Amino acid sequence: MPDATRRTFLKQAALGAAVLAYPPSKVLGANDRIRIGMIGVGDRGNDLLGQIRGVHGVELVAMADVYSRRRDEFKSKVSGAQTFDDHRRLLDMKDIDAVIVASPLHCHARHFLDTLAAGKDLYSEKTMTWSIPEADKCLAAAKGSDRVVQIGLQHESEGATFDARQMIKEGWLGKITSVESWMSRNTPRGKGQWVRPVPHDCTAQNVNWPAFLNGRPDRPFDGYKLINWRLFWEFSGGNCAENLVHQISWIISVLDLPVPDAAYMSGGVFSEKDGREVPDTIAITLDYPKDIVVTWQSTFSNKHYEMSNRILGSDGTLEYHFEEPIQYWPEKTNRPDGESRKGATHNQTHMQNWIDCVRKRATPNAPPDIGYRSAIAVHMANLSYRNRKRITFEEAKSMTPEFAPGS
Ligand SMILES: NC(=O)c1ccc[n+]([C@@H]2O[C@H](COP(=O)([O-])OP(=O)(O)OC[C@H]3O[C@@H](n4cnc5c(N)ncnc54)[C@H](O)[C@@H]3O)[C@@H](O)[C@H]2O)c1
Repeated sequence: MPDATRRTFLKQAALGAAVLAYPPSKVLGANDRIRIGMIGVGDRGNDLLGQIRGVHGVELVAMADVYSRRRDEFKSKVSGAQTFDDHRRLLDMKDIDAVIVASPLHCHARHFLDTLAAGKDLYSEKTMTWSIPEADKCLAAAKGSDRVVQIGLQHESEGATFDARQMIKEGWLGKITSVESWMSRNTPRGKGQWVRPVPHDCTAQNVNWPAFLNGRPDRPFDGYKLINWRLFWEFSGGNCAENLVHQISWIISVLDLPVPDAAYMSGGVFSEKDGREVPDTIAITLDYPKDIVVTWQSTFSNKHYEMSNRILGSDGTLEYHFEEPIQYWPEKTNRPDGESRKGATHNQTHMQNWIDCVRKRATPNAPPDIGYRSAIAVHMANLSYRNRKRITFEEAKSMTPEFAPGS
């Protein structure tokens, strides 16, 4: 038995019967094209389509989306691609090697689990899942599989991430007790953040509505919710799942933090009272082991300070503005002769990193473990907000996810 096959066999034998359901790995040669399918190609899916097209040696062969407009748009961009209104038909295709998922949050776990069960490698948009039980299931599935999984936390591939880790490891910050982070946006008054118009052809005839609902209580077709799913808890995790997740995954990964001990989140729907359920104004405190407190604030009514992470240590400060080199300043109290410096490591392309790892069967920059720990922080914060109290990790684990307030 060749070594690689033997290793896979031994790994599968050790993991037990569940894993044997996966088809055997196809080993891709350096010149083999990687055949890609996409699930959910709306706004972000189209960004990712542009990104994957920039990667050498891949071929787009199929997409699945519940809305006919998206399938038509895809066909007009990718000639010869097959399209489906049900992701399972795409996963049935034996000649697809790898799948990119950019569906709404409440579908991520299903698409994650089904993709791995079909034996395909996976790029899944963040947040990894809509709930904590789903995060547990996805992490377990990823650990029991030999598939290459990258979560769409693209800042993990930035040079600043590698530089920050190195500076912290070398002791430039001293004792770190506190991390401040924030993210802010603004929109013209009267126009709420994220609200999108519903296209005229967004009708029951053109949408596989049960597939979108994905187990949520059945109801007549609602085009507003299909297009503006982000505003409603049963499909979304609000701004924590949209933006906190990017910042907390970066903090977790450079400081090597586990899940939080506890979370407290306050705020509300203050900017535009347009029927949305998820808050636009947020203040969060996350208590981490190792004596570290992380705070995150967000508003949709002022973008003056935009977005930043600051790691505060007894000997220095690291400041991270996304997509820019990391900045370091010494604390003169403890490093009187210290000098400021800037990170110099180049950014990688997150999509390219995934494809490289698919070829090498290596671990990408944002593996499911980072997806899991960042998802747990997001869900603990949201559970705190919705229950109006501080929530420990143990309490959060025992809570049943709710589809809507009061349900
Ligand atoms: N990494 C990033 O920087 C980043 C940026 C933006 C969005 N995102 C993430 O991408 C995801 C999609 O966001 P978006 O703004 O593109 O949403 P979107 O609504 O524009 O696109 C979602 C697409 O999925 C389709 N869809 C819905 N249910 C489906 C199902 N069951 N099966 C197949 N297709 C289905 C919809 O018809 C739509 O075309 C979200 O999880 C979001 O958080 C990530």
